[in-house]
Amino acid sequence: MTLPPPILDIQHATVYRGDSLVFSDFSFVLQGGEHAAIVGPNGAGKSTLLKVLTGEVHPLALDETRMRLFGKECWNVWDVRKKLGIVSYDLQRDYLICAEGRTVVLSGFYASNDTYDHQAFTRDQVGRADEVMRELGIESFATRVFGHLSTGEQRRFLLGRALVYDPPVLVLDEPTSGLDLKSCFQYLDLVRAQIHKGKTVVLVTHHLHEIPPEIDRVIFLKGGKVVADSRKSALLCNDHISTLFDRPIMLAQANGWYQALPGLS
Ligand SMILES: Nc1ncnc2c1ncn2[C@@H]1O[C@H](COP(=O)(O)OP(=O)(O)O)[C@@H](O)[C@H]1O
Ligand SMILES: [Mg+2]
Repeated sequence: MTLPPPILDIQHATVYRGDSLVFSDFSFVLQGGEHAAIVGPNGAGKSTLLKVLTGEVHPLALDETRMRLFGKECWNVWDVRKKLGIVSYDLQRDYLICAEGRTVVLSGFYASNDTYDHQAFTRDQVGRADEVMRELGIESFATRVFGHLSTGEQRRFLLGRALVYDPPVLVLDEPTSGLDLKSCFQYLDLVRAQIHKGKTVVLVTHHLHEIPPEIDRVIFLKGGKVVADSRKSALLCNDHISTLFDRPIMLAQANGWYQALPGLS
């Protein structure tokens, strides 16, 4: 059996955001077909790493730096975006708030944040958007204005936008932040359904409760460095999590899910 090429293979990268150096001599491989959770405190560089993956942020062009996406050194940003369905909190915040729900999903065909008239899409594309909305239980909100939906409904529309192209990889940046318990668990059910349909899920988060049981590889990112990279069962324990977040933390675990609690100092 031939293995799929790594989703991302980055070697010796230096990455700045504005004047801030986020990664220096950073190397990391994300295997194809392997679900992964990248966990770390605020400011660790998690969202920046996803922006490198999606081509929104580039490493400096240094002699020693190598970056391959889906096995290719040269890639077209649009082709990569069709392979990666991305849902981020930024996207929800920045999204044009007056777009109609269905248009939000349809905009995924162009990996764009712009709104379009429905006429700009083919009948097949509109059919596919409707199919995805049914799958996510949001078809009844298709004509509602995005800005008038609840945070949970908005998040499901953005998931629909990421899925409309049927990409093999789903990339989620803190997917359930800001959601109430029902919306959070509903959303995680939808993510798990995508895993069971064969999609690879890559998640970045500081919330341990949003790591589905199916994700087995965990990467700890702190201060722009990979400080640990192993199986979930090895890393998600009181000692390692307390070190990662620089305070005593106790973990509770049930049915393959984790929850962090304050530890005793
Ligand atoms: N647009 C930006 N301009 C300047 N610095 C930024 C920008 N975005 C992020 N940073 C900085 O980059 C570092 C990593 O940020 P980020 O990748 O958002 O971390 P995380 O997602 O892990 O919280 C932080 O120090 C942050 O202040
Ligand atoms: Mg972030």
